[in-house]
Amino acid sequence: MGELILEMKQITKVFGSVVANRDVDLQIYAGEIHALLGENGAGKSTLMNVLTGIYRPDGGEIFYRGKRTEIRSPKDASKLGIGMVHQHFRLIPTLSAAENIFLYSDKKSFFLKQDEMQKEIAACSKDFNLEVDAAAKVWQLSVGEQQRVEIVKLLYQGMEILILDEPSAVLTPQEAQSMFDTLRKMADSGKAVVVISHKMNEVMANADRITVLRGGVVEDTMLTEDASIERLTRAVVGDREYTPHVRESYVSGDDFVFSMEHVTALNDKNLPALKDLSLSIRKGEIFGIAGVAGNGQRELSEVIAGLRPVKEGKITIYGEDITKQSVKQHIKKGISFIPEDRLHTGLVPELNLMENIILTSYDTDRYSKHGIIQHDQMQTDTAEYVEKYEIKNGGLDLPVGLMSGGNQQKLLFAREVSGNPSLIVACYPVRGLDIGAADAIRQILLEQSQKGVSVVFISEELEEIFNMCDRVGVLCDGELIGIRDIHETDFMEIGRMMAGEKEEAKTYA
Ligand SMILES: Nc1ncnc2c1ncn2[C@@H]1O[C@H](COP(=O)(O)OP(=O)(O)O)[C@@H](O)[C@H]1O
Ligand SMILES: [Mg+2]
Repeated sequence: MGELILEMKQITKVFGSVVANRDVDLQIYAGEIHALLGENGAGKSTLMNVLTGIYRPDGGEIFYRGKRTEIRSPKDASKLGIGMVHQHFRLIPTLSAAENIFLYSDKKSFFLKQDEMQKEIAACSKDFNLEVDAAAKVWQLSVGEQQRVEIVKLLYQGMEILILDEPSAVLTPQEAQSMFDTLRKMADSGKAVVVISHKMNEVMANADRITVLRGGVVEDTMLTEDASIERLTRAVVGDREYTPHVRESYVSGDDFVFSMEHVTALNDKNLPALKDLSLSIRKGEIFGIAGVAGNGQRELSEVIAGLRPVKEGKITIYGEDITKQSVKQHIKKGISFIPEDRLHTGLVPELNLMENIILTSYDTDRYSKHGIIQHDQMQTDTAEYVEKYEIKNGGLDLPVGLMSGGNQQKLLFAREVSGNPSLIVACYPVRGLDIGAADAIRQILLEQSQKGVSVVFISEELEEIFNMCDRVGVLCDGELIGIRDIHETDFMEIGRMMAGEKEEAKTYA
């Protein structure tokens, strides 16, 4: 074990009524990879933002090499050699990788010539296998490359404690492995590395020491050699019962309900976002879309929902061509959309629960007679959904913006499912939800599929796709790289496809 470099003692951080960290103790040793594990909202990012001087703690102390110290700003943190790669990178897109790396360094290297900069970067990154194209503008780099730029930036500034917030979230499994190899080299060279993650397997495979946060409190801390999935699960989710949903029945026959043929669409910048994409979905099938976010997932879901025009190609549902039809027509044909951005595209935060429930059907006979909204019906239905889906709320007439994310998502699902859809497009439906709400949402989707409803399930979590789906299609750079039966593939193959490898991808859509 290396030297104890840094110690956080009894750290508390409060935001309004939320206690993000309560009396948290954390020790960071040189030469180790320390994983900070916990589900969404557990307080991981907050704790590291305290350590890097972004937030001032409301209580507790920080000791640096045994000496009590105050970290009042990111500048204080960097003086102590503490640096962080944030979940959302903070690079300037129009500058080159080299310029971004030198921008914040004290050395006056900003005035170095391009080739001198590259030499410096090469020197700094060669030991750690951090391939960086120093001359390229950041906007031209892939997400993985941008992450390497962020890491080199910290190394160049001489950081000794490197913190990475959910670094694998934006990477394919292969890229993630190579990133962890890099982190291992940095630890071996004597640096301390802290990795935030919510993935137990990843943490078990790569960390030396694990600290688990739940509800802002340290639940457990251990050396990885003493860890097991059972122990970690208990710490991460607590006593709540947790059974991962594994799909039992394969409802679908060969009855195709929905199909896209050679579909091309543009993104908001008018650049190709979907390239010659073809797929067909069976009745009752859950069809997973895997891929690193930003590879056409949003555009695909919007095209299916009728929100984004199709440039070329054809879309049919039950054999009927709906390529050029409006959103309203898509809804009428039974296509239901659970958007990524549930609180603005899905629900209207300022409207109350009842108003949100009738948002997509206020003009139907159920809710409108002779142009008059049927309040009683609206209230009865909403109350029924609230009970059935256990939606916690302060009143049916309060704005949904006041509810927690999990309850908003349940309300949105209740509304969409109540319209008896034939196809549900769900974009990252459990992202950011606590485990109870995530479970409820998965349960709804599984029930729907059992009833014969088809589902397009977009997710970044391969484990979840393997648990939920019958087949999986992989998106990379707007192309559907291939489609696999879930029982005939594995993580590594899907990972290679996520990186765009096509040789082995035989499409049998
Ligand atoms: N700037 C903030 N203002 C208000 N609440 C916040 C802020 N940052 C985090 N929180 C709340 O603190 C809790 C912990 O959040 P966070 O540290 O981001 O968790 P994690 O990184 O483990 O997902 C959450 O309930 C979150 O909503
Ligand atoms: Mg976080």
